[in-house]
Amino acid sequence: MADVIALYSDRIAQGALHHDPAQEVVLPELERIRAAVTQPAKRGLFRKAPPPPKGLYLWGGVGRGKSMLMDLFVEALEGTAVRRVHFHAFMQEIHEAMHAARQRGVEDALMPAAEAVIKSVRVLAFDEMQITDITDAMIVGRLFQALFDAGVVVVTTSNRVPDELYKNGLNRQLFLPFIQMIKQRMEVRELASPNDYRQNRLEGAQVYFTPIGPEARAEIAKVWEDLAGGPGAERVLEVKGRRVSLPHYRNGVARASFYDLCGHYLGPADYLAIAQAVRVLILEDVPRLSRSNFNEAKRFVTLIDALYEAKVRLICSAAAEPEMLYVEGEGVFEFERTASRLREMQDKDWGRD
Ligand SMILES: Nc1ncnc2c1ncn2[C@@H]1O[C@H](COP(=O)(O)OP(=O)(O)OP(=O)(O)O)[C@@H](O)[C@H]1O
Ligand SMILES: [Mg+2]
Repeated sequence: MADVIALYSDRIAQGALHHDPAQEVVLPELERIRAAVTQPAKRGLFRKAPPPPKGLYLWGGVGRGKSMLMDLFVEALEGTAVRRVHFHAFMQEIHEAMHAARQRGVEDALMPAAEAVIKSVRVLAFDEMQITDITDAMIVGRLFQALFDAGVVVVTTSNRVPDELYKNGLNRQLFLPFIQMIKQRMEVRELASPNDYRQNRLEGAQVYFTPIGPEARAEIAKVWEDLAGGPGAERVLEVKGRRVSLPHYRNGVARASFYDLCGHYLGPADYLAIAQAVRVLILEDVPRLSRSNFNEAKRFVTLIDALYEAKVRLICSAAAEPEMLYVEGEGVFEFERTASRLREMQDKDWGRD
């Protein structure tokens, strides 16, 4: 176990991170929480357990290092009952547990769902908290109340300041007490760094690898390691009641194969949802396209359009240069635009605000 501030300094010393004063000012907050939750319990008849520390709500623009800091915090807590989870994946779990409880005839299904979580953790680290869905909005208040009442400490990253959570959402007035609760139970801090490190890391980096093979695979693995910084987890997007799976996701970066995303039936709404959900997509093994895989090619075009519009950074390995991916058969003409977009998306400044 190490102190968060020391871990950060180590990374700077190793050259893995740049010194950033805006990041440095939030380190003591993380360290405060780490120290409190790892404090050994005092024994004795009349000693009460100390109240749990306030959590932390860390918000700010993209690529500022919120997830990275959360990862350091989790690393520093190794050996403690800490769980790092994507906020949306966590909410899906809660909905599933509620569904199961209802099937057992439990009327207030939220409580058993919350209790299952409480039993196993002391600290919850939520990456990318955002609330866009009314079913989430209507239960988070009671859910977090149950977590806080049980002494669970919550640390979360978000792109939005609490007052803007679920902005313009349906029945928002019912959601407002949740915002109050966050402000009471968590320190709210902005990570106001001027640097978008994700863009910086990609600047000048090769993002299109061809041909497909062990070399490309190794390069892609390096990019993943550099940007995602740890093991990915499946992320399931719900699109019009269907489930679209991103097999590996972490810190804004998704990694999938061409086959995963274009090899079976997915439509424009699915690709839009993917483009909204990720900042960087690593797409591996794009094959040569032709009449024989026309449907895959069409889906690929739709995917690239969605990524392009949403300014998602794309990193791929492909069987050929963009212009040579699709050279014969129906749709060649339409593919020209895709090839040109693939080129443009390789530009070092592409996607910068
Ligand atoms: N001080 C730093 N020096 C070098 N690289 C950094 C620094 N801080 C963060 N990074 C790297 O920049 C990338 C983006 O950081 P991170 O994912 O933490 O951003 P974020 O604030 O969580 O963005 P988002 O809002 O999109 O989730 C990561 O690869 C991370 O390791
Ligand atoms: Mg992040």
